[in-house]
Parts: sequence; C-alpha cells; structure tokens
Amino acid sequence: MLSRVAIVTGAARGIGAATAVKLASDGAAVAVLDLSSDACAPLVDQIRSAGGTAVAFSCDVADEAQVDAVFDKVAGELGSVDVLVNNAGVLRDNLLHKMSSSDWDIVMNVHLRGAFLCSRAAQRHMVPQRSGKIVNTSSVSALGNRGQANYAAAKAGIQGLTRTLAMELGPFGINVNAVAPGFIVTEMTDATAARVGIAAEDMQAKAAEITPLRRVGQPSDIANVVAFLASDAASFITGQTIYVDGGRRL
Ligand SMILES: NC(=O)c1ccc[n+]([C@@H]2O[C@H](COP(=O)([O-])OP(=O)(O)OC[C@H]3O[C@@H](n4cnc5c(N)ncnc54)[C@H](O)[C@@H]3O)[C@@H](O)[C@H]2O)c1
Repeated sequence: MLSRVAIVTGAARGIGAATAVKLASDGAAVAVLDLSSDACAPLVDQIRSAGGTAVAFSCDVADEAQVDAVFDKVAGELGSVDVLVNNAGVLRDNLLHKMSSSDWDIVMNVHLRGAFLCSRAAQRHMVPQRSGKIVNTSSVSALGNRGQANYAAAKAGIQGLTRTLAMELGPFGINVNAVAPGFIVTEMTDATAARVGIAAEDMQAKAAEITPLRRVGQPSDIANVVAFLASDAASFITGQTIYVDGGRRL
C-alpha cells in the first residue's frame, strides 16, 4: 500500500493514465499532470469512482516556471511529494536529413529537460523528508532506432540522468530508476502507424511477430513495473533501467 502522494506527468492517457490508476489503487493520492488539466478529467473521475484520490493539474513539463509552481501546488494541496513518475512524451520522427531543429528541440525538451526540471522540483520536497521515489521513462529506442535520432538520444539521455540522480539522491533515501518500454499500444503507437500509412492492428501484429513473448504490451504492463519501483518492495533498487519489452531486444 502506498499511503503517499504521487505525481505522474503526461497522465491524461496511455501509459501515464494506467500508471496513475495503478498507483491510486495501491493507495497513493495521485496528482495527474498534463498540458491541459481538462484532458485529465475522465481519469480523475475514474480514480475517484473507484474510491481513490486524484487531482488534475495543467503543466508543460518543459516550462521551468510552470514545473516549479505546480510541484509547490501539489505539496500544498496533497501534503507532500513522495513519488514522481516522469512519463510525459512526444514523438517527432524523421530521418536525420529531414529532421528540423524544432523536431529535435521539442523531443529533447519534453523528455529530457522535462525529466530534469520535474526531478529537480521533486527533490526539493523529497530531500528534507529523506525519502522519495523517482521513476523515469526511457524506451527500447534508447538502443537506436531508424527515424528517431531525437527520441533515441533523449531516451538514452534519460538512462544517464537516472544513474546520476541515483548517485546524487541515494544518500537522502531517494531511489531513482527507469522503465524502458517496448511496443505498447497507446495513441502514440497508433499515431506512428497512421504516419507510415499502416493500420494500427497490422503494426501491432508485426511487432508481436518479432517479440519473443509474441505479443505487444499494454499500458498496464508498464504501470505494474512503475508501481513496483515506486513501492517499498523496491527500496534497495536504484540507478536501474528495467526493459519491459516482451524480450524484444533478445
Ligand atoms: N507507447 C510506446 O510504445 C512507448 C514505448 C517506449 C516508451 N514510451 C514512452 O512512454 C511515455 C508515455 O507514452 P504513451 O505511449 O502513453 O504516449 P501518449 O502520446 O499516449 O501520451 C503522452 C502524454 O504526454 C502528454 N504530454 C506531451 N507533452 C507534454 C508536456 N510538454 N507536458 C506535459 N505533458 C505532455 C500528452 O498530452 C499525453 O497525454 C512517453 O515518455 C513515451 O516516450 C512509449
């Protein structure tokens, strides 16, 4: 049971929404952050009608002033900041010669700068209480993926950030880990299928074929691992990136 306060970024849908639901069902009061708090309203209703606690906040994770303000607001309204899940993400895929500098910048800003800003804001609350859990979101694309120079670099950067924050924050009782999802069925992967002109179901079937476990992942597959890393059961794990990909890299 998590009788604590968790912040999940990019929580309006997909993996973030599933993570918020799981943390709430484990007993956490969940602050769900996304570009628009209105987009989180159905999620908040879902969590509350299951007996949980959830509050929605608008926040662009790449905006320093918004991030600093929202973490103080969450601590004020819910009492503390004990768990941070850095999940917000965007794609701007293209081959290098066609990738614009704004495609590069937005991906680096949301994933890497966002994780940095949110982790820095979270530790201001976690260090004084000498406890906390930060779970970052990397990807199998960190190992390299054609058409994703920006995203692969950001997701590899997340792994370096994770190891470094684990070293810096460990002495204060704060665990910092990452999950690296493989193919998970969300609007993000549906949009990729649409962009390359394949039906989402066909893309999922192709991905399942080359996955040792012969299926694609669901948001709950990631949420379960994030919830474990956010729990006391994982209290001696830090600095790790756990691939949750059905064995895709084997
Ligand atoms: N779906 C996959 O197959 C997969 C695989 C590996 C990693 N991931 C990672 O998992 C995370 C969640 O992915 P998803 O598939 O659920 O994506 P998604 O596109 O369904 O959801 C992403 C959420 O992030 C929010 N967001 C985007 N920019 C934001 C910003 N600047 N500030 C706050 N919120 C912002 C969006 O509004 C959206 O609600 C991302 O970091 C993604 O890179 C996904």
